[in-house]
This record gives sequence, C-alpha cells and structure tokens, in this order.
Amino acid sequence: MSRLTLHAGVGVLAVGALLVLPSVARAAEARKVTFAKDVAPILQSKCISCHEPGSIAPMSLRTYEETRPWARSIKQRVSTRQMPPWHINKSVGVQQFKNDMSLSDEQIDTIVAWVDQGALQGNAADMPVFRPIETKLFWQGERDGYGEPDLVVKSPEYTMPAVSQDQWWRPMVDIPGLTEPRWVRMVEIRPSNIQGRKILHHSIAHVVMDPNDPDAEAVNRGIASGRPDRQDADDPSAIINARPSLMEWAIGKGYDRYADGTGKLIKPGQKISWDQHVHAVGEAITAGSELGIWLYKKGEEPKKRTHLVGFTGLKDGTIGLDIPPNAISHTEGFTVLKENTVITNFQPHFHLRGKAMMVEAILPDGTNQVISYVDNFNFNWMTNYIYAEDATPAFPKGTIIHVTAFYDNTKANKNNPDPDQWVGYGDRTVDEMAHAWMNVYYLTDAEYQDWLSKHGGKPGVPKPAQRTQQQQQ
Ligand code: HEC
Repeated sequence: MSRLTLHAGVGVLAVGALLVLPSVARAAEARKVTFAKDVAPILQSKCISCHEPGSIAPMSLRTYEETRPWARSIKQRVSTRQMPPWHINKSVGVQQFKNDMSLSDEQIDTIVAWVDQGALQGNAADMPVFRPIETKLFWQGERDGYGEPDLVVKSPEYTMPAVSQDQWWRPMVDIPGLTEPRWVRMVEIRPSNIQGRKILHHSIAHVVMDPNDPDAEAVNRGIASGRPDRQDADDPSAIINARPSLMEWAIGKGYDRYADGTGKLIKPGQKISWDQHVHAVGEAITAGSELGIWLYKKGEEPKKRTHLVGFTGLKDGTIGLDIPPNAISHTEGFTVLKENTVITNFQPHFHLRGKAMMVEAILPDGTNQVISYVDNFNFNWMTNYIYAEDATPAFPKGTIIHVTAFYDNTKANKNNPDPDQWVGYGDRTVDEMAHAWMNVYYLTDAEYQDWLSKHGGKPGVPKPAQRTQQQQQ
C-alpha cells in the first residue's frame, strides 16, 4: 500500500474513532466498508445505467470482479465529482433538481473509504439484487405511467466505425402523423436500438419552423433575449435562438416533462433537425435516435409556451471571443429580460476549451444572485440541470442575466487538442462558443405578483423551506 493511501486510511480511522469509541480496534472494525454491503447499492442506484454491458461507459460495474480493477480510478473520479457526470457547484444557486444523479457526501466517503481499506469484497450474502441488464429498448415515460408517446420521430441511422474521431450526425426529418397544430406535454429521446446506447453521447432535436410562421419571432428568438435591433448574423444570441428545440438528451437522462401548464406548440410542415454526438467504441455500430412526443389532450392546451433560450456568454458578439494560447480566459454576456421570467433548467454549452459557467441575475433593485454555477465543466458531458418545480426562480422584467464563461486553453485541460492554438468563435468543435441553455416561460405582472406573494415577496431563487441533507439514493 502506498504512503498516500495509508495516510488517507488513517484519516478514515480517525473519523471512525470519533464515531465509535472506546477502542481504536473496534472503531476500525465498525468502519469496515465492503463492496457487497456498502458499495454495490451505490453502484446500483447511481452508476449501472451507464456502467453495464451494452451501455455507454467503457466498463461494467455490476459485480465485484468487474469493479475491483477500477477501484483507484473510481476513487479519483468520484472524489473529484467527475462521476457521475454531475458538475454543478453544490454551494450556490438552485440546489434542487428533477434529475439529480450526483452522490451525497456520505456516499463519496463510503466509496473512498472502501478503496482506502483495500477494496474488500465482504460477505456475498450482503449483495443487493441488481435489476436485470437492460436488453431492450423502452420509454422511461411509459414505465413511469404516462403511456406510449403519441408521436415518434426517428432519425436515419449512422454507422460509426470501430475507430474514429467523434462525429456529429445531423439529418433532418419530417414529423410523421402530425396533421394539425398540437401542444407538446413531454418529450423523450432514446437511441434507435440497444447497441446505440454505446455510441450515442447526446442527441438534440431542434424544431425547424417556417420563417413566415407568425409565431417564429416569439419562438425562435425568445422574448427574453430577442434583440429586434440586432438581427444581424453576428449577434450570437440570434444565432443560437434561431434554433428552437424540443429536447436535448444525453444517456442517463429520461424525459423532459414541461412545467405544469406550459408546453411547446408543433405544427404540420415543421421538421426535426437532429444533432447527434456519436463516439467510437472499438466495434462498428449502426444507430440513430428516436424522439417520443406526448401531447396535451385537445381542449386541455397549456396556457404558457416554454421557450428554450441560449443566454449568451459573449459581450461583443462573435468577435468578443478571443482565447490566447496556453491561457485561461473568460468572457461575459448580458441579456435584459423583457418579460417577468421563470427559469426552469440550466445546461451550459461550450466546446473543447469550456471550463466553467456561472449564470447570475442582476435585479432591477441592484442586488444580484447566482442562479447556477457549473464549476467543473467537461466537454463530454453537456448535462442538463432541471430545476425542481418548487426551486424554479422567477425574475421581474428588467433583470439582467449575466453569464460568465471560463475557458481553459492550457494543457491541463484533457480535452484540449492543441494548447498552442489561438481560439475564436465558430461552429467547429475546435472553435469556441458559450451560452446557457435555459427553458423559460413568462408571467404577466399579475401572475408575477402572485408568484412573489407565494415566495415571501422575494424574487429569484426560492429559499428551500429547510436545508435538508441531500437524498441518499
Ligand atoms: C450518465 C452515464 C454515467 C454514469 C451515471 C456514470 N458513469 Fe462513469 N463513465 C461514463 C462514461 C461514458 C465514461 C467514459 C467517458 C468519460 O470518462 O467521461 C465513464 C468513465 C468512468 C470512469 C473512468 C474509466 C477510465 O477509463 O478510467 C470511472 C472510474 C467511472 N466512470 C466511474 C463511475 C462511477 C463509480 C459511477 C457511479 C457513482 C459512474 N461512473 C456513473 C458514464 C457514466
């Protein structure tokens, strides 16, 4: 055992000794962490959706034999909160989510202690029963009782060779079966076959609207960020928001159920433009994505439209992005909300040099608040942080959404293909961009006053009623 692990082990003993007195020997005994009893339940609930045969991760973590060789790597990834891929800062901004896959501090301590104590197997009788390996496709929404989707849109499939750079597969398709305008309640994306789970990193379904559609202005640009005076092509918010999306998906994510009373309107003639990030896994695999759409019943249409807005992280348009070689740098973007706005999620978007993104609100009264901060961005993981219904912040019109985007163009960034390059704005993965994808909906003044009265008169991120310890599983 190296001196380092020994040292960490002593730390664990010390904690154990505090908890279980009197004898140090007994304390060590009481703190003996085993795979079967302590670690397997965590892997079962937090890891195997990706770490099992046929899924995206490089190795399965379902058994002791499979997991043991990865013990050190697991300790490293888990203690730095790289795995599971949930990279949002735990001390500022919204802290309750619909799709939280992170580990609690206690779960991290358990895994670290297990590795430090020699990664013991323990008693086979303590092993939890794992659910069977996922071998067929399913809709999570159907499992959760929402029935089959009303419409399914399929992307053509792509054959990813055994060895290749990452690819972006962007076909465009019709929405079959849509004969009249309908409101969307819920969406889910899944790979088109079980093999596809290995290669599909993430998949976005953009809606392509007829530019002459009278709704195009409100939907495409979003009232939140629309800058009618700046329709030119180098307004980064115009570029981003010209692409309304039904859903962004990455493996590990289930469905998006829009906030109650809100939805997205789709119309016959619109198309879905796919943006699929596929990566090679050592065997050729052919797959695409499918989008399941659940509609509001006729006569039960929602009152509000939700808009996916890309709040810009650039101040001076595309020319404002100027990242020197071998440097850490940052840009900032400011967007004035023209309506009272409720924000329901956060997904930072960068390319390879992305490092961190903070979204703050500067309120008309001059105070400011952090809405969300991803301090540990990793290009492989465009995780979408979906706020819990009672944690969604609302801001009055006139609030400024301030996005600060940090870039790491040094060799410390493992995703950096070449730290000696200058980097500017562009669509290629080797270029950069920065925006905060957020689904928003708007409140009238009366609705906003009502929201305030339910939140102690305070705009912004609601204070949790009481700070509860994060859920265990
Ligand atoms: C959403 C899917 C997903 C979840 C959930 C997930 N992983 Fe991963 N994991 C991956 C993928 C994909 C990779 C390979 C790409 C990467 O390193 O980001 C990976 C890589 C890793 C690695 C590095 C392997 C190596 O090559 O060194 C470790 C260790 C790891 N995961 C452990 C865990 C543990 C432990 C959990 C649960 C506590 C977990 N992961 C949860 C998808 C996931």
